[in-house]
Amino acid sequence: MPDELKNLTVLVSAGPTQERIDPVRFISNRSSGKQGFEIARAAEEAGAKVTLVSGPVNLKSPTGIKRVNVRTAAEMKSAVMSRIDKCDVFFAVAAVTDFRPRKLLEHKLKRPTDQINSELTIQLQTTDDIVQAVTAMHERPYVVGFAAETNDVIRNARDKLKRKNLDVIVVNDVSDPSIGFEGDENQVTVVFPESEQELKKQSKYKIAQQVIELVANALPRST
Ligand code: C5P
Repeated sequence: MPDELKNLTVLVSAGPTQERIDPVRFISNRSSGKQGFEIARAAEEAGAKVTLVSGPVNLKSPTGIKRVNVRTAAEMKSAVMSRIDKCDVFFAVAAVTDFRPRKLLEHKLKRPTDQINSELTIQLQTTDDIVQAVTAMHERPYVVGFAAETNDVIRNARDKLKRKNLDVIVVNDVSDPSIGFEGDENQVTVVFPESEQELKKQSKYKIAQQVIELVANALPRST
């Protein structure tokens, strides 16, 4: 796929976010960041100028890309929004944590010593939807969403495509433990408004190359 994204600026969000509860605890999810990093790598190899906004992950940066590390959903949102104007294609691969504690506790929460009163309530509020902030922009890049679903995979993906006003959504079925999350392989369906394309189970890198190819072919000519 030589030069399919030549002269284009690509922004990729990847990994989970962490939402702090107290100085030592946080809420997060199982995203490893692997699929997002492979998208960044494949986009760079296809000729794009790539910036990768990454949550906390244990991965080396692909060569030739600029990496911006963030921790929380709010930090990821400001890292994305401050770069979105210059971007032609945004791949929202990050598994942004949906809830954050309403208050950040200054001191470590103590385990209740009282056996009877052993319940604890932490009030949560939703984090901002980053991809929706991007698709709501007047002048917006081409936006590729990603979704992990456990049931009614294609129907839920199509709902999300519409609700979030995405140009395309890449969906995987995470009820199959051999794909998605921490694994090195993935199996996805690339869902466009008028069509869909299944990509067979293969390495996350090969999936990334094929997603890039499909997206490159779908881009409006002026992009
Ligand atoms: O979590 P959900 O299935 O809604 O994620 C679908 C898409 O929305 C993904 O592309 C994800 O990166 C994006 N998203 C986001 N900000 C959120 C939640 C999800 O950008 N707070």
